[in-house]
Amino acid sequence: METKGKLYIETYGCQMNFSDTQIVNSIMTDHHFETTPHIEDADLIFINTCSIRDNAEKRVRARLQEFKRYKKQKPGLVIGVLGCMAERLKEQLIEQEKMVDVIVGPDAYRDLPRLLDVAETGQKAINVMLSADETYADISPVRLDGNGVAAFISIMRGCENFCSYCVVPFTRGRERSRDPKTIVDEAAGLFNEGFREITLLGQNVNSYKDDNGNGFPGLLAQVAAISPELRVRFATSHPKDLSDELLQTMAAWPNICRSIHLPVQSGSDRILKLMNRKYTREWYINRIQAIKKYLPECALSTDIISGFSSETEEDHQQTLELMRYVGYDYAYMFKYSERPNTLAAKKHKDDVAEEVKSRRLKEIIDLQQKLSLKSNKQDIGKTCEVLIENESKKSKNELSGRNSQNKVVVFPKGNQQPGEYVQVKITACTPATLRGIIVEA
Ligand code: SAH
Ligand code: SF4
Ligand code: F3S
Repeated sequence: METKGKLYIETYGCQMNFSDTQIVNSIMTDHHFETTPHIEDADLIFINTCSIRDNAEKRVRARLQEFKRYKKQKPGLVIGVLGCMAERLKEQLIEQEKMVDVIVGPDAYRDLPRLLDVAETGQKAINVMLSADETYADISPVRLDGNGVAAFISIMRGCENFCSYCVVPFTRGRERSRDPKTIVDEAAGLFNEGFREITLLGQNVNSYKDDNGNGFPGLLAQVAAISPELRVRFATSHPKDLSDELLQTMAAWPNICRSIHLPVQSGSDRILKLMNRKYTREWYINRIQAIKKYLPECALSTDIISGFSSETEEDHQQTLELMRYVGYDYAYMFKYSERPNTLAAKKHKDDVAEEVKSRRLKEIIDLQQKLSLKSNKQDIGKTCEVLIENESKKSKNELSGRNSQNKVVVFPKGNQQPGEYVQVKITACTPATLRGIIVEA
């Protein structure tokens, strides 16, 4: 069958969005579009967008300005905006950014072929319907980039936690879980293709529930049972739902990786309440203690927001103190960005001065650098299992992979290949990377 044209697609935002891009690739391939990594060859440009912070949206708008150039060169070129910004802004985005032809929200990707037919007639096309049950369970993602070793599988969509600062419940809609059989089959298929690591994705994986009422620990165990040679990871866990049962399941399966991402956002009870996080500092610390009890080797990472509405110096100090207490191995750290129409935008004034937010963020980042370095230094002299992913970015003579704790490990190449496991003795480190040498198992 003749190709309908070439599609170039660019993705912003979280792993869920990257995973959605693979679903879009699959739908478009089935409708006879060819994907291209070269934007200048494209007949169709898609940009899969993120709304989580204002600067995420600004980046997309700047990119749309650049796309105008390609439209001048190729008048029939169609530009589509997908993902969270499409969902948040709807037709407004077409009014604001005239170069956009198609707007498609995260639950409407099956409608893409029809929308493109409309766009072909010169009309603007839009579908931002959210769904209570769309999981794209029957669509096999087309994984174009990536290393062939580690892959992501979306196991649920949407979020109903309504943290007061967050747009995701508005851009992604109702929470729904994907049929477990399709998840396990996809994971097994990937293993047979040579993949050795699967990350199960959802905004809050701990509230996964299939139609028979089975929860996340059961699903995780089923995926882990595919092979001891398959590593399994998952993200993200909401502290309010992290159960002992999950930790026991992890402890029972050595191939479930020893790393948990547990976003805390703030160390202050007062701020946590305003954020509608539904847990206290004490609860969070209790969960950390449970992790340390069941999984003493487990790495911990987190997300932190600085300068949320009314945050005082005292609140900020409590965040720093909690970071020191937990001793995070890694953190994603952000300045609070007020998002239109969220609960916080309506009720909690964005009243922390920009320079105060920046200074607090810097203190948080500086502390995390120290904590990461401290954690990495403790690994020197230890030997760990590393799944090789690729050549190191800096040198062709080195390989790079990650250990169970999700730390990047770089070491001199022998005749090993990506996808193989090796034992590496750690000899040096930076805050971001461990270095070592391969040793016999
Ligand atoms: N579902 C995940 C995270 C989704 S968004 C969870 O609940 O942890 C990823 C991170 O972006 C959040 O954890 C939070 O730290 C940050 N974030 C979300 N909204 C934000 C906002 N309005 N301003 C700044 N950071 C934000
Ligand atoms: Fe946003 Fe909270 Fe849902 Fe995470 S749990 S996606 S921060 S509303
Ligand atoms: Fe961004 Fe949407 Fe993900 S807002 S972080 S792309 S769910």
